[in-house]
Amino acid sequence: MPGAGKSTQGNLLAKKLKVPYLSTGHIFRELAKEHTPLGRRIKLVMNAGLLISDSKTLQIVIDYLKRPEYQKGYILDGFPRTLGQAQKFKNGIEKVIYLKVSDKEILWRLAYRDDGGREDDTLLAIRKRIEVFHKFTDPVIEYYRKKGQLLEVNGERTVEEIQRDILKHLKVHAK
Ligand code: AP5
Ligand code: MG
Repeated sequence: MPGAGKSTQGNLLAKKLKVPYLSTGHIFRELAKEHTPLGRRIKLVMNAGLLISDSKTLQIVIDYLKRPEYQKGYILDGFPRTLGQAQKFKNGIEKVIYLKVSDKEILWRLAYRDDGGREDDTLLAIRKRIEVFHKFTDPVIEYYRKKGQLLEVNGERTVEEIQRDILKHLKVHAK
């Protein structure tokens, strides 16, 4: 879900496991700053709370993962987000962590984000991101649940409690 804590937990996990972290949202926000047709298109799509196309997203993720630093593993944040992305991604996914947070809590978190807010944090875009999540990403969760790869975590606790829970399930001992 938008605002569920993917980036917060993803960064912590990457540090703990010493593997690189890759966020498609972050890559797209960087591309959106570029004054190119692609940059402008990405900015419009993101600020409306919609998804970038599967083909563009897959192309970017696959290109990044060819870099040497990703060869021993990686933490992906916000990808795969559609069934199409999940089915076409062949690089390998071992575990999928789903941070479960209610729609209501998301609205609070994003409207009052503590890192200054983002251009897609308008009420209209937040509502759209939540709607898009249920439409396109709920099926992805079911897809990985059926494959036995889903780790469902209650995301409405403190950052530390959630991290401990994830590490426990991944059988990594937290210090
Ligand atoms: P993306 O960057 O992934 O944004 P998002 O899904 O909307 O999620 P956020 O980054 O807002 O939240 P988060 O889950 O990382 O939570 P965070 O840790 O920041 O995607 C942005 C856009 O890019 C998409 O809308 C789409 O357009 C495009 N895109 C990205 N990936 C794509 C893909 N695969 N395909 C197509 N398009 C794609 O935490 C949020 C806030 O809550 C912070 O203030 C934080 O401090 C706070 N917080 C964190 N944990 C807790 C906690 N436990 N308790 C209370 N507050 C907490
Ligand atoms: Mg994020």
